[in-house]
Amino acid sequence: MIEKTYIEPEALKEMVGARKLFIWGARHDGYAASLVFKRMGIKQKAFIDSSISLQGKEAFGYPILLPDEFFAKYSKDNAFIVIASGFYADEILGNCREQGFQKMESVLVYGELRRFNYQVDVSGSCNLRCISCPRGNYPDHRKSGFMSPQTYEKLLLKILRDDPYTGIISLYNWGEPLLNKSLPKIVRLTNRYSLLSAISSNLNVTIDFEAVVAAKPTWFRVSNSGWGENYEITHTGGKWDLFYKNLFKLKEYREQHHPEMIVELFFHIYNHNQDDFLKVKELCDSLDFTIRYRHAALAPLDNIEKIMANIPASSEVERTRELQILKVEEAIGIAESPEEKNRPCYYEDHLWINWDLHIAQCMEWYRPGLNLVEKDFLSVSPEELILARNESEFCTACKERGIHRVYCVYGDEKLIAQRESLKKDHS
Ligand SMILES: C[S@@+](CC[C@H](N)C(=O)[O-])C[C@H]1O[C@@H](n2cnc3c(N)ncnc32)[C@H](O)[C@@H]1O
Ligand code: SF4
Repeated sequence: MIEKTYIEPEALKEMVGARKLFIWGARHDGYAASLVFKRMGIKQKAFIDSSISLQGKEAFGYPILLPDEFFAKYSKDNAFIVIASGFYADEILGNCREQGFQKMESVLVYGELRRFNYQVDVSGSCNLRCISCPRGNYPDHRKSGFMSPQTYEKLLLKILRDDPYTGIISLYNWGEPLLNKSLPKIVRLTNRYSLLSAISSNLNVTIDFEAVVAAKPTWFRVSNSGWGENYEITHTGGKWDLFYKNLFKLKEYREQHHPEMIVELFFHIYNHNQDDFLKVKELCDSLDFTIRYRHAALAPLDNIEKIMANIPASSEVERTRELQILKVEEAIGIAESPEEKNRPCYYEDHLWINWDLHIAQCMEWYRPGLNLVEKDFLSVSPEELILARNESEFCTACKERGIHRVYCVYGDEKLIAQRESLKKDHS
């Protein structure tokens, strides 16, 4: 169920008053919230984030504090917290309450202010066939194609009209954004309308992406699953040498055109690449890229559902399962536990808008034709979308089975530490 607590910007300013603003979550939801509050004229003091990989770093010129550091110095009387951390907003809210912060008095959830989080798949195709991704393991696909800048601008104007607390637009979901030749224009349009943009790329392209960096995207994620031959197993169809060279190009283009661009390498942990992590981390340190990691998941949720129902999946799915450290059965077991299953769905307020403006049922389910509404994005109102989500029988069935939490389990950094999935000390 999508719960929204819309507050007029002026009323929000009054609520914060003279207190210092802290945003909990220094990832892209946090960046979005940061921009929105800046637009409103509310000054931020710092980010709070428990992630080890972010400690000692800054985001947008603001320091990143550990929760303990923050609570040792601040209270509800001198600080106001906005939670902008997707998967664990409910848990964080619990922590804040324990420390005397109360919702709507001294703490707010950013996701409840804005209506949706927009994932715009500007490219309806990919150059790789990764075995953990539907591009490489699923039999059916939507029609391929690319969003034009003209369509994108109409979409942006509608978002700003319907959803004024929007701060960031993600320009990917299942496609490879660099394949869209209009990506530089699309990024520039996003900036022109004072929004942030997020790109995630496999960077395994021969296309020159200098113009993309020169257009100044806010956040650039590079996806990775190991070093050398190991990388090529799970970034199937990709070439390590090309990827490696492109990392250096990315650094060079960032220095030339956009030094503030946040670059994050996202390492997918499998059992064949655990020993590569330190090498990849050293490379990131030398390039001044942040490294982030996660247990490699099996996508999409359609495959998870098949496994739960004992329906045979493709050979690529089976190969992925062999290589995974956190096995699908284990992740399902955790997601089905009452404690996890009863938690809210992180994806409910995300909209995957396809390049052709169709709105998919969910950003984590893939089968073609499974849409949230019949109308395209430009013709549908936000009220219709919220109603469609809240009345969706598909969502109800997904939540009853705990499927909605499976990827949150894969994203859990604490589980990675507990299981020592990176083997060596990486802090
Ligand atoms: C399917 S990709 C598409 C975007 C782009 N082509 C890319 O490779 O980054 C979308 C996101 O899923 C993440 N991803 C891909 N395979 C994954 C896996 N096996 N486990 C966890 N995340 C994965 C990627 O890092 C990326 O940020
Ligand atoms: S289909 Fe499942 S994961 Fe997607 S929004 Fe609905 S409940 Fe959440």
